[in-house]
Amino acid sequence: MSLHINKTLIIGLGLIGGSLAKALRLNRQCGLVMGYDRDYEEAAKGLRNGVIDQAAESLVDAVAEADLIVLAVPVKAMERVLIDIAPFIKPDALLTDVGSTKANVVAAAQRVFQRLPSGFVPGHPIAGSEKSGVDAADAALFQQHKVILTPLAESSSGAVTVLTRMWQSTGAEVLLMEVEKHDEVLAATSHLPHILAFSLVDTLAQEQGKNTDIFRYAAGGFRDFTRIAGSDPTMWHDICLANKEALLGQLDLFSSGLTNLRQAIESGDSESMLGIFTRARAAREHFSRILSGTAYSQDMSNQQVTFRAQPGGSVQGKFRVPGDKSISHRSIMLGSLADGVTEVTGFLEGEDSLATLQAFRDMGVVIEGPVDGNVTIYGVGLHGLQAPPGPLYVGNSGTSMRLLSGLLAAQAFDTELTGDASLTKRPMGRVADPLRLMGAEIETAENGRPPLKIKGGKALQGIHYDMPMASAQVKSCLLLAGLYADGQTSVTEPAPTRDHTERMLSGFGYPVQQEGATAAVRSGGKLSATRIDVPADISSATFFMVAAAIAPGSDLTLEHVGINPTRIGVINILRLMGADLQLLNEREVGGEPVADIRIRYTPLKGIHIPEDQVPLAIDEFPALFIAAACAEGTTVVTGAEELRVKESDRIQSMVDGLQTLGIDIQGTPDGAIIQGGTLGGGVVESHDDHRIAMSFCVAALRATDTITINECANVATSFPAFVELAQQAGIKVEKEEG
Ligand code: S3P
Repeated sequence: MSLHINKTLIIGLGLIGGSLAKALRLNRQCGLVMGYDRDYEEAAKGLRNGVIDQAAESLVDAVAEADLIVLAVPVKAMERVLIDIAPFIKPDALLTDVGSTKANVVAAAQRVFQRLPSGFVPGHPIAGSEKSGVDAADAALFQQHKVILTPLAESSSGAVTVLTRMWQSTGAEVLLMEVEKHDEVLAATSHLPHILAFSLVDTLAQEQGKNTDIFRYAAGGFRDFTRIAGSDPTMWHDICLANKEALLGQLDLFSSGLTNLRQAIESGDSESMLGIFTRARAAREHFSRILSGTAYSQDMSNQQVTFRAQPGGSVQGKFRVPGDKSISHRSIMLGSLADGVTEVTGFLEGEDSLATLQAFRDMGVVIEGPVDGNVTIYGVGLHGLQAPPGPLYVGNSGTSMRLLSGLLAAQAFDTELTGDASLTKRPMGRVADPLRLMGAEIETAENGRPPLKIKGGKALQGIHYDMPMASAQVKSCLLLAGLYADGQTSVTEPAPTRDHTERMLSGFGYPVQQEGATAAVRSGGKLSATRIDVPADISSATFFMVAAAIAPGSDLTLEHVGINPTRIGVINILRLMGADLQLLNEREVGGEPVADIRIRYTPLKGIHIPEDQVPLAIDEFPALFIAAACAEGTTVVTGAEELRVKESDRIQSMVDGLQTLGIDIQGTPDGAIIQGGTLGGGVVESHDDHRIAMSFCVAALRATDTITINECANVATSFPAFVELAQQAGIKVEKEEG
């Protein structure tokens, strides 16, 4: 990589300027590194310490030679320096800064230059320490730190690219943001905590005058909270003035939060106090996960996870797969809307159901856990949700977005639902359209895609809706909206789909009328808290059922699996294909039937999958395609066009992958024709789709060579411990991250 920069000038050799100079001097990406400092002795020291190649005595001479100029002076001094250097900057030179506020730097530049130069791209490295001066320069300071660039309308794309690469060459991660957004974000996440720390220490220091013991007893909490009050007072004075508006906004927000907490303490309102503390702790955990790169609320497709599965083997044992995803989502939703405390066991701690959990926390519900699948939800009642502080981000989860949209359309406040790249491509018109018929106001992006902007304060009307597709998500969305709509809301489905919402509403004591293919609710009722025991997810169990069905010598028992009649398509289909599958110990737990499923290898045969089984096995098709590829003869799938709008186009993903592995398979608009054959090895793409990734992993049991599966991070959405469990069962798979 060459950035075509012969000379770089860093103006101001403090910690940030010095560290950048040193990093660039070492990596040689930006030519000769010159340093200028108002105090020449600092520059001379920089030269002696190997921070820079050349110490500039004359600022204007150095500027006239530089292809890249970095202003690393205090924010307050930027304008003065710009005035001094502006006439001497080469026309095609790049100009950036490292100031921790941006609007005022841009305003200063605007005053100095008649027209902002196209080479000017303001920046802010989010790195630092309590140390200062060129002596503290550290070439590694920016490694794994974020640098925000705030390109302006005038900035050329070439300048943005070069400055991005320049920062990347120091090991930093570069983000682009608008100037106002930057200042707002920094006011909240950096400036506010600093001034709180300063203020607390100052207040206590005044107390100290009266009570000399106060600091002597100051323990870890005080030290942790006030560490940042040790930073440079002048710098913080300047930042407060430079980012005044955004900071005052955040300070007001904080003050009102603090007033609420004060009131709760004064009146002994335990629920409010616990609410604040629990939400804060959860948010803190959430941030820690973001910072460590494992958050559910980040686009997990950015993480590179590859599965490498070695050929052969069989599966053995007896174990329980994680909790049912559909039921886990609904347990949080209905538990939150109930009156009283709902205890959930067996909750799926996957990214999707955690996204739903976080959304309800964002709307003010106190939720404890999950700890070992146990969750406690302090329901707020049907009308107790509060406006979330920002958009509700639901990651990869279509279920969260579609079910929530029904609920949110009926709330008093506005909301926005956003998701990751995969979810952003999925159709939401299927929920937005009928909700609009009920009187909801919902704005979508083009073609009914997310994000969804939902207007609050709308009075919904009950409707009857004939669903054009067999979708439990659409049905559930409308039933949830129906809890609030005037009169009755009824939904007729063209084929049976999972009925967990109906069952669970009944479990919470809310009446649901079921007549044939139509489910209906009336508003005006209430949900009463209950206990929910989430069975193991039959969709996750499927990977192991198929594994045992295709791998000679296998004998596996999957415990406590949900066998709701609307979910057992996979069992029916595998049995039609000749699988040896037994349901043991059948029982009912909390309104849902469960059983242990024992499955032993026996050769499978190809079939035409009955279309009435398709909605009952809708999530199981990727794995069933693998079963079909291992069966003798032809398997035909029809009536399954819904597969094209799942987390990926599952027909295409499976056709491409199986063809790569040497199987004769042909996609059709609503399914596929699969000839059983011999699976070879190869590299297949999961397209960020958890079920595609896990299916190809299972395929390795019958493959003749290694199968490498790309983009597997989203397996964590439904089955976080999949690889460990697969290894334990006998699948020779390794996970590679990075
Ligand atoms: C789900 C319904 C199904 C399914 C999804 C979960 C639910 O989606 O594919 O994984 O929990 O209601 P559709 O309703 O789009 O078929």
